[in-house]
Amino acid sequence: MPTITVSLGERAYPIRIEAGLIDRVGAHARQLLGDCSLAIITDDNVAPLYLQRVEASLDAAGLRHSSIVLPHGEPTKCLAQLSNLYDFLCESHVTRTDAIIALGGGVIGDLAGLAAATFLRGIRFIQVPTTLLAQVDSSVGGKVAVDLPQGKNLVGAFYQPAAVLCDPLTLNTLTEDYWRDGLGEVVKYGCICDEELFALLEKCAPGGRQALMAEIDTILQRCIQAKADVVAQDERDTGLRMTLNFGHTIGHAVETCQHYNGLRHGEAVALGMAVITRLTEGRGLTAPGTAARLEALLAALHMPMELPPIPESDLISAMGMDKKAAGKALRVILLDAIGQCRIHTADTDFFRGMR
Ligand SMILES: NC(=O)c1ccc[n+]([C@@H]2O[C@H](COP(=O)([O-])OP(=O)(O)OC[C@H]3O[C@@H](n4cnc5c(N)ncnc54)[C@H](O)[C@@H]3O)[C@@H](O)[C@H]2O)c1
Ligand SMILES: [Zn+2]
Repeated sequence: MPTITVSLGERAYPIRIEAGLIDRVGAHARQLLGDCSLAIITDDNVAPLYLQRVEASLDAAGLRHSSIVLPHGEPTKCLAQLSNLYDFLCESHVTRTDAIIALGGGVIGDLAGLAAATFLRGIRFIQVPTTLLAQVDSSVGGKVAVDLPQGKNLVGAFYQPAAVLCDPLTLNTLTEDYWRDGLGEVVKYGCICDEELFALLEKCAPGGRQALMAEIDTILQRCIQAKADVVAQDERDTGLRMTLNFGHTIGHAVETCQHYNGLRHGEAVALGMAVITRLTEGRGLTAPGTAARLEALLAALHMPMELPPIPESDLISAMGMDKKAAGKALRVILLDAIGQCRIHTADTDFFRGMR
């Protein structure tokens, strides 16, 4: 079974990737945490699919457990649900030696992680990510948060899990939308640091989801290793971790201008990667041919590559790079070539002419 370690000294933790792992959560929890009681936090899409299996594995390992099922979707990542979780943890008599299991996508992982970081000043938690995005991105690295009405992820912490348990087979039940969301991030890892992963994606993409699933263990392993390496070097996001934002500056601007009602996150990131790479290649900052190779892969994955009809000035102000930012140096992630990125210092005019 591939195990990746996030090397963070005494807070180091393993990420295990294994088909069928969902039925062995209990055995791993016992090995990692010893005898304790587990509070499972999940949502109403994931619960009917996987909750009983996780509970059965905890029973088999002789571990006590309780569970709460929250509504699915981003609105659940809020202070009211966090407060609801504190009630649940109190009612379940969770103590400082007990632990939380976050069973679900990034919404559940971020929310349950923040509950773990704060309840009783911090209790242990295990991430059991069940979406592609959560497996390759949100479950690794210890960023936990809830949204406020004023914006996403405004209240949170850096709080690392005790372990991440990834079962690739859970991805079989994901809807196409969420599969594509994760794929945007998968392509990103190939772009920023792993040309071999990029080449594997090029090979599989024409065969669609089935061909990608045939290689999913390798794909997950390479993405997670990339994220674990970056997090180990820059846990608190003050330098290298910024490279994970490749494609996100333009992507987020598009999402904002569409009021999160248009392109999905993974699609917006795909588009953002294509647009910035065309721009930087045109300015001689990126090796010739890089944009065409990226676009060919995104096309094979049926990802968007053209900006929707949003005025450039709106996009630039959504990036916070308008007059307010004038005179400030901006840090933009760009590709030297496929598999190699760097942090480039630019001025506020950098994004002009992105169409
Ligand atoms: N902490 C981080 O570093 C980090 C990084 C990236 C994104 N995020 C956060 O992650 C969240 C998005 O995560 P997400 O895309 O996983 O969203 P999500 O948790 O909403 O899951 C997507 C949907 O899939 C359903 N689902 C989950 N697993 C399933 C499965 N195996 N089969 C069928 N359906 C399943 C969920 O119920 C939900 O409806 C956002 O809130 C974002 O801010 C956090
Ligand atoms: Zn992203």
